[in-house]
Amino acid sequence: MEKLVVKGPTPLKGEVTISGAKNAAVAILPATLLIDGVCTIENLPNISDIKISCEILEKLGAKITWNNKNSITIDTTNINTTKAPLDLTSKFRASYYLIGAMLSRKGEIEVGMPGGCKLGARPIDQHIKGFERLGATVTVEKGTISAKAKKLTGNSIYMDIVSVGATINVMLSAVLAKGTTTIDNAAKEPHIVDVANFLNTMGADIRGAGTDMIKINGVEKLSGNATYSVVPDQIEAGTFMLAAVATKGDITLKNCITKHLESITAKIIEVGGKVEDHGDSIRVWCNQRPQKANIKTLPYPGFPTDLQPQMGVVLSIADGASIINESIWESRFQYTDELNKMGAKITAQGKTAFFEGVKKLSGAPVYSTDLRAGAALVIAGTVANGSTEIYNLEHIDRGYENIEEKFRKLGAKIERVTE
Ligand code: UD1
Repeated sequence: MEKLVVKGPTPLKGEVTISGAKNAAVAILPATLLIDGVCTIENLPNISDIKISCEILEKLGAKITWNNKNSITIDTTNINTTKAPLDLTSKFRASYYLIGAMLSRKGEIEVGMPGGCKLGARPIDQHIKGFERLGATVTVEKGTISAKAKKLTGNSIYMDIVSVGATINVMLSAVLAKGTTTIDNAAKEPHIVDVANFLNTMGADIRGAGTDMIKINGVEKLSGNATYSVVPDQIEAGTFMLAAVATKGDITLKNCITKHLESITAKIIEVGGKVEDHGDSIRVWCNQRPQKANIKTLPYPGFPTDLQPQMGVVLSIADGASIINESIWESRFQYTDELNKMGAKITAQGKTAFFEGVKKLSGAPVYSTDLRAGAALVIAGTVANGSTEIYNLEHIDRGYENIEEKFRKLGAKIERVTE
């Protein structure tokens, strides 16, 4: 079993380069199924979710060549099965994108119910509603989703809930459909824009991505033969920004789009941190104990739920009492039990958590309960006095490229140890 051992406290200082966005990459890879040919994807994060995505695509018949650890060339000319490997698809959430992509490409797909972080109920009714509006038949039986369509036809779709996954999935299924599809009440996250940019580079006609109304004019085919670079990861960037504040450090993040970080910047300034925005890089530092603040997670451009646990670490050591209201996921406060083992004083009840700021945390053995909770514990270990041992690293490795190396370069005393 592997664990991370972090010895603190250490103020994190220096430069870190942000990797490509996990949540964009896990959608762009299945989107390559819409192309009858070859394309190259660059700035892919080197994380386990990407390796599994590539394995799934290979099992469907794609040929993948790794150009380096962050770039692949993928040939999807010979997709020869419509049954996705159940053992692999159940390992992560984004396997649901195979449904939209394969409905477009083959008119048929069988895929296991998607896995991923346990953050509470994660229904996919809005995805299914969208596919059905385009003419597909979808059944869910014995843990398998089967979707079929003779010919998908454009239609208007109103999303009852703002959903990142459903917006991207319906976009994937509409690109090659006959006629025009509109998605009303669409999600606006940067990775939605990135997937649309990727598809448009390959010949799709998607307009309005990044607003709440997306219009997709169906095209005959996507031609490929292009190279696309994945957008920088807003959540990885936010993780390091909050690490700078929590550790009273000074970090400059390279390769990021600061426009995507505005809600995080605003909250960092509110708790007493300092931010210098250079457009494609950002410097964050903090010379004082963080101040209290209240947070409500919201769809983009609101404060992202995927940075809620990392912000929770900042508020756990803030001067004063804070409240976090989690409006997206019902079980996103599991990490607070782990922080409490380190001396934090957090009471979580349903979708609300109360933080009574303490002066310091102290090292303890803790368990990463999901991906972002894991990143929060790495920050907490760097803040805490003494040694913190973090277990369940498979969660962290799903979404952070070289987390310990990046933290070590910033001065953290962190080692991966095999027991
Ligand atoms: C994506 C991200 C995840 C992030 C989340 C919210 C990926 C791979 N994952 O997850 O990291 O935390 O966005 O920013 O991109 N919902 C329904 N019905 C549906 C779909 C969603 O009720 O059909 C609800 C969910 O239960 C949740 C909310 O809508 O309460 C938002 O979920 P959604 O945006 O779909 O999250 P994911 O795409 O799964």
